Amino acid sequence: MPLKTILLLTIFSISPLASWAQGASTAGHKAAAQPPPAIVAGIPVNYDEAKVGTYTLTNPLVLNNGEPVRSAKTWFKERRPQILKIFETQQFGRAPGRPADEWFEITDKGTPALGGQALRKQITIHLLKDPAAPVIHLLLYTPTAAKKPVPVFFSISFTAVSSAVDDPGITPETIWSPKTNTRIPVPAAMSRFFRPTNILPLLNAGFGYATYYYGDVDPDYAAGFSHGIRAWRLKPGQTVRGPEDWGSIAAWAWGMSRVEDYLETDPSVDANRVAIHGVSRLGKTVLWAGASDPRFAAVIASCSGEGGADLSHRNYGETIALLTAPTRFPYQFAVNYAKWAGFPDRAPMDANMLIALIAPRPLLLQTGSTDYWSDPKGEFLAEVAAGPVYRLLGKDPLDTTVWPAAKQPILHDLSYYMHEGGHGMVPSDWNIYLDFLKMHLQPHQ
Ligand code: GCU
Repeated sequence: MPLKTILLLTIFSISPLASWAQGASTAGHKAAAQPPPAIVAGIPVNYDEAKVGTYTLTNPLVLNNGEPVRSAKTWFKERRPQILKIFETQQFGRAPGRPADEWFEITDKGTPALGGQALRKQITIHLLKDPAAPVIHLLLYTPTAAKKPVPVFFSISFTAVSSAVDDPGITPETIWSPKTNTRIPVPAAMSRFFRPTNILPLLNAGFGYATYYYGDVDPDYAAGFSHGIRAWRLKPGQTVRGPEDWGSIAAWAWGMSRVEDYLETDPSVDANRVAIHGVSRLGKTVLWAGASDPRFAAVIASCSGEGGADLSHRNYGETIALLTAPTRFPYQFAVNYAKWAGFPDRAPMDANMLIALIAPRPLLLQTGSTDYWSDPKGEFLAEVAAGPVYRLLGKDPLDTTVWPAAKQPILHDLSYYMHEGGHGMVPSDWNIYLDFLKMHLQPHQ
């Protein structure tokens, strides 16, 4: 497929896929240093710290009626539900619960793979009874040597599962093309950009690995709506989304919960020790999945930026206005989110509160020092501001309010790491991920 077609295939810009389309990288999710764009979708972008302005964040430990939250009980019973509702109605949109018709079809029951080091399973998660409805193709590996149920690193993927790991035994899968609005085989250039993940270090450390292609649940472009699960859940007579209905990010996160439904039934994994991971828009997705589904034990969000772990109150890099501009990503969020474009100071929520929803579970924010668009400093400050909630629940927040330099990990229950470089993941980030995973979900010996 010619590169031009590939370029058209993607609606991403200033993203891992943009670097892929430009042929800038051959290492999957490689951090690409790009000059920051000054104007995007006709909106000027600020990269000047002096122009960030002042702001006051909402205190997550104050109830809507102004009363302070002094106990874990008040947090879980009163304040947390209030914040969750704000994010559901104002940012990501409300997702339905577990579908009554959900069922699991195990098509590959545990085949030795990766030189005998892993057992591979492939599971089709049927989301509705109707065979025409979207299904999730889940790929799962567990270490062959494991004697007990293993903790799992579950990463949501931009590409088909058959391209996610270098294993010829995986059933070939397809991805959505925004150009044709059909599913197509994974283009070679995309496979070169999203290189398969080497999962051996994870397996050797005693972890399992799971992944699914996000487009299985909802194609990542506005016109793909009719092919995604959200179209199947419209109310009778409803043709367009209501202001609080789920956007694509909520759908992708909901798909992660459906994977957890399966993992709870699989005796080879410990479903109480599943860490979720995603990059960029999928970093936003794992933050929301962790916030909305407390079954996930830990979250690693890579370069989630605006709409993820970055503070909207800071006018730096991407903003709500840029995310929700009609030509950009409004379909990924609740329709209501655009109301706050230009007025983050009036919005009832910000990233500090999204992070607080994950408490007391461990969270690692991985950023890049030149990923100005995603504002790595804004992510750090959001994590600082969520610290009091972790402390209230007896957990360790970050131990500093000073933004650390690149390559200086802070590994606590709230963790932060900024690699040297741009947007996405670099191979050395894996060392930090493994340290974080071992620290919090150490496999039983
Ligand atoms: C765009 C978008 C970001 C998003 C990124 C990605 O750059 O503006 O918010 O995180 O795409 O998902 O790659």
